[in-house]
Amino acid sequence: MLTKQLSYHHTLFPMPHSLAAIIGFVALALLAGCHSDMYDMPRGKPLGENGNFPGGQEARPLVDGTVPHSEMPQDELLLTGRVNGQLSNTFPFPVTKEVLERGHERFNIYCTPCHGYRGDGKGMIVRRGFPQPPSYHSDSLRAKPVGHYVDVMTNGLGKMFPYGDRVQPRDRWAIAAYIRALQLSQNAAVRDLSEAQRRPLTGK
Ligand code: HEC
Repeated sequence: MLTKQLSYHHTLFPMPHSLAAIIGFVALALLAGCHSDMYDMPRGKPLGENGNFPGGQEARPLVDGTVPHSEMPQDELLLTGRVNGQLSNTFPFPVTKEVLERGHERFNIYCTPCHGYRGDGKGMIVRRGFPQPPSYHSDSLRAKPVGHYVDVMTNGLGKMFPYGDRVQPRDRWAIAAYIRALQLSQNAAVRDLSEAQRRPLTGK
């Protein structure tokens, strides 16, 4: 009975057990390395060759009429506040009432926590202990070209971190225009007013 069982066993596994185990293991390892999913699908490299396209280039030309998702990098004034590396004192587009309103809104959102609603540097988080920025109403800041404001928003300055990733280029200019309006609001002389504007003030 015992002999019979043993011979039966041997017909099922004619090889020594250790060899069978090794073969089984190798087969499993081969199967596991055999991805047929997206892991190793043929794919193109961004600037590689591809014989399927005319010109043999993998990268496809832009479709006519493609709109860039950000402003053109060559627009130095709009993006940096500079012309030929020098801070500019002119705007890249006309400052209309809409631009000022947009600047007012963006300034209130992004700048007032530190600079305050009047730009005097006494914003809420300054009153809670954040380093105080200078007031916009000093002679030296009034004299700065408007590009300086765009430059500080774009790149930051000292303790102030940049806002380039949160405030879009046109909005940086709109804010700069609104800061100019704030400066004028605190430093206007009677001679800056028209006759009609002066009358109610002087009573004449
Ligand atoms: C978290 C606080 C904070 C916020 C928010 C903030 N600033 Fe400032 N800002 C500062 C501080 C502090 C300074 C002074 C930096 C220094 O000199 O180290 C400064 C400096 C400046 C200056 C430079 C003044 C100079 O001396 O030439 C300008 C311009 C300016 N900020 C504009 C802005 C505008 C515009 C915004 C909104 C987009 C803004 N800041 C938002 C804290 C802030």
